[in-house]
Amino acid sequence: MSPPEHFVVEYAINPWMDTTAPVDTELAVKQWEGLRETFVRLGHEVHVLMPEIGLPDMVYAANGAFSVDGVVYGARFKYPQRTAEAAAHRRFYDTIGWRYVTPSQTNEGEGDFTYLPAALGGLVLAGHGFRTEVAAHAEAQEALGRPVISLRLVDPRFYHLDVALAPLDDENVVYYPGAFSEASRSVLAQLFPAAILATEEDALAFGLNLVSDGRNVVLNSEATTLAARLREAGYTPVPVELSELKKGGGSIKCCVAELRR
Ligand code: ARG
Repeated sequence: MSPPEHFVVEYAINPWMDTTAPVDTELAVKQWEGLRETFVRLGHEVHVLMPEIGLPDMVYAANGAFSVDGVVYGARFKYPQRTAEAAAHRRFYDTIGWRYVTPSQTNEGEGDFTYLPAALGGLVLAGHGFRTEVAAHAEAQEALGRPVISLRLVDPRFYHLDVALAPLDDENVVYYPGAFSEASRSVLAQLFPAAILATEEDALAFGLNLVSDGRNVVLNSEATTLAARLREAGYTPVPVELSELKKGGGSIKCCVAELRR
């Protein structure tokens, strides 16, 4: 995670960003701190990546890389405003000694990649349509040695996979079907017959941009219907307020780069 100390909205690269809307950076930092503390309280180890001046979106740490089995497939951002973030993440992985694969294809890390360790013995789901190129899916498969399923995103409000779908545990997911092409919806229905489906309202509240440890599901406090559905399914929803970071087009999952050993 990387604190939003330099968070502002000074460019607009997704439909949520409005450069004329005021941003309360102090509030963003306070809410982010609440999120970090939530993970620590739940027993997780959190590494903090130093935020850099001039990289206001660096708080969305999920986009910096994607790791599986201790191997890191690096990010290559679509927009020049975020390009330099990839190197900051790379330095972190170099420090902890994980193998880093430099990408040649445009991809935004965990924004568009996620992993289910127990689905078919280890399955990567990958989004394309707005940011990550479909060629990066094949590159990730070669880098990581895990099968990659390509899913096409069709609604610009859900421009990354991680705002449309999330793993709940090692083998099941929750998603908003309207974010995907008809064919990709069929693929998801085939792979995850027991998936939980989210409403458009919850998706728009960034409810799907969640982090689950298999039991506790840390999600945006505004996604109340989804929280109820998760509780019914046996998970423990942990609502966190992160309203200020919605102004950049992200929420809880966007702030977290998961380290998969
Ligand atoms: N402003 C950032 C962008 O548009 C938000 C990134 C959100 N991150 C995410 N993992 N969905 O690139």
